Amino acid sequence: MKDTGLVAATEFLRHPSMVGSAFPATARMVRHMLAPVDWSKVSVAVEYGPGSGRFTFAMLERMRPDARLLAIETGEAFVEKLRAATDDPRLIVVHGSAGDVTRHLADHDLQAADLILSGLPFSTLEPKEAETIMVATASALAPSGMFAAYQMRTAVRLLIERNFASLRQGYEWWNIPPCHLYWAMNSRRDVTGDAAQSHEEGS
Ligand SMILES: C[S@@+](CC[C@H](N)C(=O)[O-])C[C@H]1O[C@@H](n2cnc3c(N)ncnc32)[C@H](O)[C@@H]1O
Repeated sequence: MKDTGLVAATEFLRHPSMVGSAFPATARMVRHMLAPVDWSKVSVAVEYGPGSGRFTFAMLERMRPDARLLAIETGEAFVEKLRAATDDPRLIVVHGSAGDVTRHLADHDLQAADLILSGLPFSTLEPKEAETIMVATASALAPSGMFAAYQMRTAVRLLIERNFASLRQGYEWWNIPPCHLYWAMNSRRDVTGDAAQSHEEGS
């Protein structure tokens, strides 16, 4: 499968605050970020902001043959490149926003997600948009689902803590830029986006 890294630099120059970085994630960061996932339990995975596809292809390598990966991306150039890069039937590439994850899952007859991986630059998104995306994320996950996110800054941490009861953290130096890594579980939201029963024992 072909990586389409060159488009990352071009898209960053066109939309710096939306794209966040001119460099695709390194192989080392991808391995670090995906290591805690139990792929045998993932039927439905979602990726926000796949960009040039470094995580997308690595996720497909690890996923079961019957699983599905819904990749949601606002950048049209990324969407076109990703669609052209693979004909893996497990991958669905949507041109749209992560804030509409519930609708995109339903449009493709997919149930609640077992894993949502975010590459979104939360620190440069509008605060209201960031909050909307996080509430939608916590609502779109299955009860045992995991939200995984990598970020240059720590802005996303508060948002995660408001919406999830359990949070693990890591850091990866071997990336441009180095990134904070977050793995969250036990959503505090139900499917409607309302506060769900507390899971405080997991925090
Ligand atoms: C830091 S880049 C992702 C890098 C990529 N995942 C990688 O491995 O190199 C952030 C991506 O999020 C996309 N994006 C920004 N806002 C978005 C949103 N609301 N919904 C979906 N994608 C979005 C950008 O177009 C960009 O491709």
